[in-house]
Amino acid sequence: MDTMRWNIKNDETYNNQAVDEAAELIKQGATVAFPTETVYGLGADATNEAAVAKIFKAKGRPQDNPLIAHVATVDQLRRLVDNMPVYTEKLIKAFSPGPITYVLPSNGTCAQNVTAGLSTIGVRIPDHPVAQALLKKADVPVAAPSANLSGKPSPTMADHVWEDLNGKISGLLDGGPTGVGLESTVIDCTQDIPIILRPGGITKEQLEEVVRPVMMDPGLANTKEKPKSPGMKYKHYSPEVPLWLVEGTHESIQAMVDQEKFNGNRVGVLASQQTAKQINAEEIISLGENINEIAIHLYEGLRRFKQGDVDIIICEVFTEAGIGQAVMNRLRKAATEYIVK
Ligand code: TXA
Ligand code: MG
Repeated sequence: MDTMRWNIKNDETYNNQAVDEAAELIKQGATVAFPTETVYGLGADATNEAAVAKIFKAKGRPQDNPLIAHVATVDQLRRLVDNMPVYTEKLIKAFSPGPITYVLPSNGTCAQNVTAGLSTIGVRIPDHPVAQALLKKADVPVAAPSANLSGKPSPTMADHVWEDLNGKISGLLDGGPTGVGLESTVIDCTQDIPIILRPGGITKEQLEEVVRPVMMDPGLANTKEKPKSPGMKYKHYSPEVPLWLVEGTHESIQAMVDQEKFNGNRVGVLASQQTAKQINAEEIISLGENINEIAIHLYEGLRRFKQGDVDIIICEVFTEAGIGQAVMNRLRKAATEYIVK
């Protein structure tokens, strides 16, 4: 199929005609990728089972991994769910629109394949002008996973979506780079206490300023425990070549780079700006000066090293503070090795 691409990144009014056309495609049951404040999503009408099936097909996504329903307003969110715990109201007031997804009892409005047969549904109100305009215009809940091929790093730029899905989807709204760079925080709101199923754009610290306590799904820390979010068990965020996650000083990282070079391997390095300055390697990408910048550039960095360019990627371990928890969650999943030096 031909993929329509609308370039609206330099248009302050977000090019109404492009959004109208994209919304029309969604209404007709087609798939359209669009920017959000976290990563690009691949959207389809969440009430249309055949449309939702196209998302799974284009991404090569396992059928048992549920999708997030995106809506423009809190009223629209309420229309998809049954009884919300009081703490959910507080969280919504504090963080939505924004990079957070609430898992709540579904009232059955969305198609079965959105929730992969679960009785709960993940709902999110994105905080991005293009996403908001598209959702308002389409006027249906829009199911949207990250707009990458299953297993690959999520797209933070329209070109990433194009690389993975050109010819497999009906449209792509190019709104420039996304904001946060990592996906939304997924929070289970079906229990007495909210439980983080996937760390993301809203940190545990931020959540706990509004509701206490907040738990982490034990599956996040313990690999033996089955994760409660079905998507968390799959291979994820993987670059084209093996990724070694290395905990150590810049001297020990340098020693490892030199050793692998001696072994005949071409090494690519992903590091903070501070570490990058002190390391000597053929290919080195600085992800940024602080953990927020590192989050923004992480997926782009993981995508930049292609097969044939390097044999191994070495990435340093970052802080777990703030969004660092989400950064390290993604890196642990992306890594083929975790090495302590
Ligand atoms: O930031 C985001 O959340 C992006 C943008 C596009 O909104 N979307 C995104 O979707 O990351 P996806 O499909 O790549 O990840 C959704 C995650 C998966 O781990 C999935 O298993 C989990 O949310 N999830 C969705 N519905 C769920 C449910 N009812 N119960 C538990 N986990 C759920
Ligand atoms: Mg994803």
